[in-house]
Amino acid sequence: MRYDILTIFPQFFESIFSFGILNKAREKGLFEIHTHDVRSFSEDKHRTVDDSPYGGGSGMVMKPEPLGRAIESTKVEGLKCVVILTTPQGERLTDKVARELSRYDQIILVCGRYEGIDERIREIYVDREISIGDYVLSGGEYAASVIIDAVSRFIPGVLGNEGSPYDDSFIEGLLEYPQYTRPEEYKGRRVPQVLLSGNHQEIGKWRRKESIKRTFLRRPDLLDRADLKKEDFQFLKETRRQNPPSFRVYVALVHYPVYNKRFKIVTTAFVNLDIHDISRAARAYGIKVFFLVQPSREQQRLVERVLQHWMEGPGSSFNPTRVEALKLIRIKNSLDEAIKEIEQIEGVRPKVVVTDARPREKTIGYSELKERIFDGTEAYLLLFGTGWGIANEVMESADFALKPIEGLTDYNHLSVRSAASIILDRLFSSKI
Ligand code: ADE
Repeated sequence: MRYDILTIFPQFFESIFSFGILNKAREKGLFEIHTHDVRSFSEDKHRTVDDSPYGGGSGMVMKPEPLGRAIESTKVEGLKCVVILTTPQGERLTDKVARELSRYDQIILVCGRYEGIDERIREIYVDREISIGDYVLSGGEYAASVIIDAVSRFIPGVLGNEGSPYDDSFIEGLLEYPQYTRPEEYKGRRVPQVLLSGNHQEIGKWRRKESIKRTFLRRPDLLDRADLKKEDFQFLKETRRQNPPSFRVYVALVHYPVYNKRFKIVTTAFVNLDIHDISRAARAYGIKVFFLVQPSREQQRLVERVLQHWMEGPGSSFNPTRVEALKLIRIKNSLDEAIKEIEQIEGVRPKVVVTDARPREKTIGYSELKERIFDGTEAYLLLFGTGWGIANEVMESADFALKPIEGLTDYNHLSVRSAASIILDRLFSSKI
């Protein structure tokens, strides 16, 4: 494998690979690193490599001609080559990407600088654009060195032991288990007994569980791609039970005040499926109470009868798990009554979050709302509207309006129970 780095700061790379494992591997000839000064491919006497952007704006853009010449002259005939541009706009560098790149014979790394590079270089020469994270570095050289390090670990022989990059974090999509070495006791903390047992089967099982637990607690997003066996799911269930959610979230299905088709404010009737399905989702996702906001006494009586059937009548023995879900329901005459009840339970007024299929001026995204909820200092009430949506007066007095859910088509007519499930999953999913 050979790396060719195109940069305006070749000095940057003078010492960075001259120690440790990568230096040894380089000395053994497992890969070569060549740096090329892009300035030396400029043909004017000032060795210019950048210019101001067409259309105006701040900063400078790397000119196409020196970069194009540099790429063309570094490509080696007959080698399987990939041209990479380092840029925060690129695909994220992951373990999988590093592994893929290690299979090339030549990697040409174009280190982006200034405001970026002329778009035509991307179009003509660049095969992959890679970012090392969602932050902006002062230059692509840092990213290029991270890419070289991550990729080189997968070149056979670089780590000495062929198997070892495959034991490290992320290989099976899980984080690595905790490691210990001598002494057996340090500052009162002992090495887990199983690791001293010499029983390799038990040690293997312990490590697998610790990996799963760590991934669940620190990077649940990785679980989706992880290669999980049936017994791993069982262990995950146990881990979830031992680490119950710490958020305080309530939901309300609002039947008044909502709009009808003609945008008149009305009271809507209960929909049996909504009540069952939202309460089941609420139970599954850790919601504390599911309020039904319904001022019509007649409608309230109807729901009370339905609930009685499922919770005390024949339905309760036929379907006991339904009882668990429907137990979360409280019927309220108004939203204010629901808010007052939360205040009584929590000792604080909840932040009210409205959901709506229509776009609004100021909205909050799922990840930001999730961060706020999980920070644990506030209680939240999520409002789901029936009919043609919650009345503007409620929308305007809410603390947050959540961004509408949208598929990749122009059809946006989800039932409230579908919308509720999707929103709960986006906010409180265990990620698998
Ligand atoms: N250049 C500037 N910021 C970068 C990033 N985050 N990843 C890759 N290249 C970059």
